[in-house]
Amino acid sequence: MQFERRFHMKVGFIGAGNMTSAIVKGMIKAQHLPKENIYISNRSPEKLEKLTADTGTIACSSNEELVSKVDVVILAIKPNLFSTVLPELSTHLLKYNPVVVSIAAGVSLAQMHDWIGSDSAMRLIRVMPNLNSQIGEGMAAVCGNEQTTQDDVEFVISIFQSIGEAIVMKEADFGVFSAIAGCSPAFTFLFIDSLARAAVKYGIPKEMATKIAAQAVLGSGKMVLESGETPWNLIDQVSSPGGTTIEGVLALEENGFMTSVVKAVDAVVEKDTNMN
Ligand SMILES: NC(=O)c1ccc[n+]([C@@H]2O[C@H](COP(=O)([O-])OP(=O)(O)OC[C@H]3O[C@@H](n4cnc5c(N)ncnc54)[C@H](OP(=O)(O)O)[C@@H]3O)[C@@H](O)[C@H]2O)c1
Repeated sequence: MQFERRFHMKVGFIGAGNMTSAIVKGMIKAQHLPKENIYISNRSPEKLEKLTADTGTIACSSNEELVSKVDVVILAIKPNLFSTVLPELSTHLLKYNPVVVSIAAGVSLAQMHDWIGSDSAMRLIRVMPNLNSQIGEGMAAVCGNEQTTQDDVEFVISIFQSIGEAIVMKEADFGVFSAIAGCSPAFTFLFIDSLARAAVKYGIPKEMATKIAAQAVLGSGKMVLESGETPWNLIDQVSSPGGTTIEGVLALEENGFMTSVVKAVDAVVEKDTNMN
């Protein structure tokens, strides 16, 4: 979507919680949209007043008012609320016809369609962001239904690129995405803590060890993204012949490191499949 056209879009967030706060602050920092083009509604007025005052965005006194004013509605409420909020908003959504975006875990495009009204032809987009969005380093998967245009999807991607990276994925692959991007922060925190604990064993204070391990993991992620090398090539670069690193790499493999990671992903995908 052309920058000038994008700049005139109006985006509304239903729910003024953690994710809306992170996305809105990211959009403003990245100058994605003027703050006057961002509308927010929330169940309790206190949270809404605070977020809109902090960010200079527009508060709406109801979800219905918000729907009547924006081009894109982002539903940033808990997944269990969709089955009541979407039917309540159905008449307004069908009248004003915004693009409707969900960031809720486990709510499918088909469910959204059914809750708005089974004969509706609304443009629906499902986004799966991750926890790291809250510090502007998120990874989001985006999938639109058949009614969405390329411009709709590109616009939504550009919103989530203001808080990290975003890519288009088939909805059928969201389970795998959820494992390697939604849950992997927890796996990585465990890895960082394990490194730090090992250093504590050798007498390094935990706080210092955690900082060292976290920075090493951060830099390693950036190396993969910025060097253009595959992880295997980078492992070879760090592993000098007869050196220390290869001893550690082989010890990890001897204890089934790669298999453990794959099994963790399998467990997430299986659980995700059974929940849907
Ligand atoms: N947090 C993450 O890292 C993360 C990552 C990926 C996906 N998500 C998804 O993002 C969504 C939002 O998560 P969150 O962490 O931002 O939750 P949150 O902090 O609990 O925010 C949800 C907000 O929705 C408001 N709300 C509830 N019912 C409402 C209604 N009927 N109309 C308008 N507002 C309503 C709540 O208001 P009150 O508090 O005033 O009741 C609250 O401010 C969830 O679906 C979650 O699955 C979150």
